[in-house]
Amino acid sequence: MASFNDCSRALESLNQYQTKDGLSVSELMDSRTRGGLTYNDFLILPGKIDFPSSAVKLETKLTKKITLNAPLVSSPMDTVTESEMAIHMALLGGIGIIHHNCSPEEQAEMVRKVKKFENGFINSPVVISPNATVFEAKQMRERFGFSGFPVTENGEQFGKVMGIITSRDIQFIEEDSLLVSQVMTTDLVTGKQGITLSEGNEILKTTKKGKLLIVDDNGNLVSMLSRTDLMKNQNYPLASKSATTKQLLCGAAIGTIEADKERLALLVEAGLDVVVLDSSQGNSVFQINMLQWIKQTYPSLEVIAGNVVTREQAASLIASGADGLRIGMGSGSICITQEVMACGRPQGTAVYNVCEFANKYGVPCMADGGIQNIGHIIKALALGASTAMMGGMLAGTHESPGEYFYQDGKRLKAYRGMGSIDAMQKTDKKANASTSRYFSESDSVLVAQGVAGAVVDRVLSRSSSHTCTTVYNTHVKILVSLTKSLRSEVDASNVRFEFRSASAQLEGNVHNLHSYEKRLHN
Ligand code: IMP
Repeated sequence: MASFNDCSRALESLNQYQTKDGLSVSELMDSRTRGGLTYNDFLILPGKIDFPSSAVKLETKLTKKITLNAPLVSSPMDTVTESEMAIHMALLGGIGIIHHNCSPEEQAEMVRKVKKFENGFINSPVVISPNATVFEAKQMRERFGFSGFPVTENGEQFGKVMGIITSRDIQFIEEDSLLVSQVMTTDLVTGKQGITLSEGNEILKTTKKGKLLIVDDNGNLVSMLSRTDLMKNQNYPLASKSATTKQLLCGAAIGTIEADKERLALLVEAGLDVVVLDSSQGNSVFQINMLQWIKQTYPSLEVIAGNVVTREQAASLIASGADGLRIGMGSGSICITQEVMACGRPQGTAVYNVCEFANKYGVPCMADGGIQNIGHIIKALALGASTAMMGGMLAGTHESPGEYFYQDGKRLKAYRGMGSIDAMQKTDKKANASTSRYFSESDSVLVAQGVAGAVVDRVLSRSSSHTCTTVYNTHVKILVSLTKSLRSEVDASNVRFEFRSASAQLEGNVHNLHSYEKRLHN
């Protein structure tokens, strides 16, 4: 046994070893000896903590010109990202990419909603017509779970404001056939379009009103503030915003056929910040032509090209002007591409090889698909990715499209691959994004590359906004797990890795318990 004096020399004696414990990233990823690796196939060895978690910055590049405050991106899938998801991803420092399995007009409208979003303002208030009956108003109260509907002249969302109808107006009225116009409150306090959230909240406080209707110069409804939301309005210091307009950042996906040029024009008009060329095999003449055309036509629009899994694919797209790359083929949770196409690459190896190449050219990379837990995000970043794109991790949240349903006593939400038969059978041809993502223009027979299924909800206890909580917790966990300068420390071989055998993977998960509950949050 070593004496105390020997022990005190423990640190010096490390010098006698030729290399540090564990493997450098290039040793780990030497696929010639070990084959391709997934995130589960390796671990990061712990280092030394000599900084508080507050010293860790998660700021990262989405593209050459766009910086995010969190490395989190929601996938352009019709069960994951519409405006609601994109708003919340951006508020929390990431970004949402709106799917294109809808008409160009619908997609542009979703982008517009994100760009127009103002924290705390209800931008699409439910309204009622003055000619509706008290009975209908009561029904609406039941259906929406709240009362306080602005009354507009034509009964439409942005019509001329006539009054407001609240619980107090209808509570004691037994004559259900009376018209809303006969019982509504007309003595209104309104705010002018353009007022700030704090100005609006101040008016609510001083007037003691429950709702403040925001109107334009012609008295048309623009949005609404609610007293009940006063306490809920959080600050989002990390929100991803454009430096010039201060609007939330928003991305959208398109395909690579001619009609996508018209689609893009509408998206740009709606204020799009970044477009993702959505293809399972990005290295195609269709994508290269589209990429070059976009860079010529909209020089200030950032373009993320992909998907790629090899450095040859990456080189092709970088040379054609890509501002960012999306990496992954066959790793998605709903994906059967590797099975039916015999193409793809284990995601860890794909991320490492593409990033190692692309980062030399200053092109940020997004690790897309196969993120099953927070640890996988950290591993993707350690392998060189700047951001991680998620589908399944976000599909069960309140902000994803679709309704919850119950099956086998579990609360679920539908989640489907964009190459699933379900998604491809969406009837409107022009709206069919999945077809263009998974097939070349001339293919007439559709072969599924994805499945349709369901995910368990991610309802968490601390917040009314589930994505908020999910993303927030993810964020914090990434924060505490990262070394202060992960990328440079990996490059300098100071962050070390270990290959993880199949039995090591079993050991690293809960084992030998009769039963357990896996609670990830309080
Ligand atoms: P997840 O985060 O593991 O659920 O994977 C989401 C990713 O899977 C998406 O961002 C797409 O890259 C990919 N993907 C979406 N739909 C399909 C499909 O039908 N087949 C193959 N991959 C898909």
